[in-house]
Amino acid sequence: MRYLVANWKMNGSHDRVRGFAFALNRALGMAPASLTTIFCPPFTYLETARSALPLNARLAIGGQNCAKDTEGAFTGGISAPMLSDCGARYVILGHSERRLFMHETDDQVSAKMKAAHDAGLTPIVCVGETEQEHKDGKTLDVLACQLKQWVKGNALVAYEPVWAIGSGKIPTTKEIETAHSHIKSILGSAQPVLYGGSVKAANIREILGVKAVDGVLIGGASLKIDEMEAMVRAASE
Ligand code: PGA
Repeated sequence: MRYLVANWKMNGSHDRVRGFAFALNRALGMAPASLTTIFCPPFTYLETARSALPLNARLAIGGQNCAKDTEGAFTGGISAPMLSDCGARYVILGHSERRLFMHETDDQVSAKMKAAHDAGLTPIVCVGETEQEHKDGKTLDVLACQLKQWVKGNALVAYEPVWAIGSGKIPTTKEIETAHSHIKSILGSAQPVLYGGSVKAANIREILGVKAVDGVLIGGASLKIDEMEAMVRAASE
């Protein structure tokens, strides 16, 4: 099984989501049954994505975050059961942008993981080291620590080095292989591990060719329809 996740972050409009859905659906016409594609638009466009895409076991939508609580007086909050009610089957959790810019703590990520499981969602949990940790050779320790705290059940794990996100920099293929193998040595060889961070049409083949890489989580490049079509083609090979 191979996974392609499009994380639109805080981008999009109804028109762009509809245009993307049309192109994605067309590109997926050639995709093998072994490819699972997950589109994660902002919450406000989940319904648009649901009605524009023929969702099935291999094509799903997901949220980019969820609350740890199921309901209540949490203005602005979106709970895991609400995502599920909107047709989402996945939710991205632990993303470094939320940890860095919104000060999300390890405990909050763990609680959200539980909330996602309780609602029947599969978390796409992001793990990865900072630039300094990378320089200090602490990558594998950081990964072990994050996995131990956050991953208690069924999940897709995305190895996303913080310094590779949106930067155009990516680890060497050897570094990616080492990190992914380490994650699988902790969670089991059947654990799907995706790579994320500056994936684009020009490098996706090389990344997907690395041993122990089960897919990719794409941010910026997934916003461009021609890039996304090229990446679907590459992932379908
Ligand atoms: P990027 O983002 O592809 O724009 O680097 C990846 C992510 O943050 O999930």
